[in-house]
Amino acid sequence: MNEVRLGIIGLGNIGKQHLNHVVDGLIHNCEVSAVCSRQKPTFELPQGVKHYCDYKKLINSGDCDAVLVATPSYNHCEIGGYALDKGLHVLMEKPIGLSVLEGEKVISKVKKNQIFAMMLNQRTDPIYAKMKNMVSAGSIGAIQRSQWTATHWFRPEIYFAVSDWRATWRGEGGGLLVNQCIHNLDTFQWICGMPSEVNGHCEYGKYHDIEVEDEATAYFKYNNGATGVFVASTGEVPGINRFDIVGDLGMLSTDSKTLTFTQNEISTAKFSKNTHDMFSMPGTTITDVTPPNSINQHATIINNFVAAILNREPLIAPANEGINSMALANSILLSSWQNKPIEIPIDSKHFQTHLNQYIEKSTFREKANIDAVIELDKSYR
Ligand SMILES: NC(=O)c1ccc[n+]([C@@H]2O[C@H](COP(=O)([O-])OP(=O)(O)OC[C@H]3O[C@@H](n4cnc5c(N)ncnc54)[C@H](O)[C@@H]3O)[C@@H](O)[C@H]2O)c1
Repeated sequence: MNEVRLGIIGLGNIGKQHLNHVVDGLIHNCEVSAVCSRQKPTFELPQGVKHYCDYKKLINSGDCDAVLVATPSYNHCEIGGYALDKGLHVLMEKPIGLSVLEGEKVISKVKKNQIFAMMLNQRTDPIYAKMKNMVSAGSIGAIQRSQWTATHWFRPEIYFAVSDWRATWRGEGGGLLVNQCIHNLDTFQWICGMPSEVNGHCEYGKYHDIEVEDEATAYFKYNNGATGVFVASTGEVPGINRFDIVGDLGMLSTDSKTLTFTQNEISTAKFSKNTHDMFSMPGTTITDVTPPNSINQHATIINNFVAAILNREPLIAPANEGINSMALANSILLSSWQNKPIEIPIDSKHFQTHLNQYIEKSTFREKANIDAVIELDKSYR
């Protein structure tokens, strides 16, 4: 095979964008051979692209080597699992499903030589990629503390009102944490590792007419004694996107536009043990290490998926890693519901039992009949 025939399932906001990326030639060695939406699209499909109303027909058609699942979160696992069962490669929009348990089930279907990737596109953000490289290379030494304030995800009421599934337990298994912040939680654990214990507190429908969380605060404990704090909101303006990682040898700080590296002259622990000067501290130098930022994150993930199929290029975001952000989101919710710390790895069946109680009482909303202005680029703050 020297070209991947891709099927795109779901042609909403993000599915259409993915289709345009391929059609505009941003994806190498890939053509869209078929798309699936429950109704015929209101826009004209590019020539040669077949349309299916039923995802099973697209998957069984033989038209596609791989599918990109861009439907609402509640049917990611059903559709992704069916495609995996039928031997197709799968690129799944985030999140992996409604819960860790759903994610575990779909991941268990992957067979040898089958590629299963996630659209965790913020891993390709040059700033986060640089932070990951610097932390892995030991530039800041052992991590002592990390803190991410991600309150930049403001969403007005109409964002929820025009969608039947968003911000419902039934449609997403949560709100802010599994929708917007799944990116931050993924990047957080990708750079700093998984905590061993999570304490969370959530506010539900505090700023919006929704049943799920729209504000969250979490405290992470790590096996090496490090701690982390995560704060997020969709109700704050202008909001803050600030991520600091403090280590024994220095600190990395970003406001998502710039990256600053503060380097200690000597290890904080060594200095502290050896100095006789009661009020001294190690000297530091501050350097702006912001990398150039002109990347198309979604196109980069799709190109990587295609290259993994054709040339076995390592995946940027393999699905089995995509489950970690879901584990953090689920743990924050469970901790908030039970008012106690949750040990990681989370007991996925225990969480599911609790989530099911919320899902049983949850219904999709009636879509408001309002023409919403949709400029997708503005959503990636
Ligand atoms: N990675 C990112 O940056 C990013 C950005 C936006 C959305 N997303 C994710 O992408 C997914 C879709 O989000 P969206 O904003 O495009 O939602 P949306 O509601 O605009 O679109 C979803 C589309 O899927 C269709 N659909 C539902 N069930 C289907 C089925 N069984 N077969 C075929 N089509 C079906 C719906 O009719 C709708 O057109 C969500 O999981 C969301 O979290 C990711």
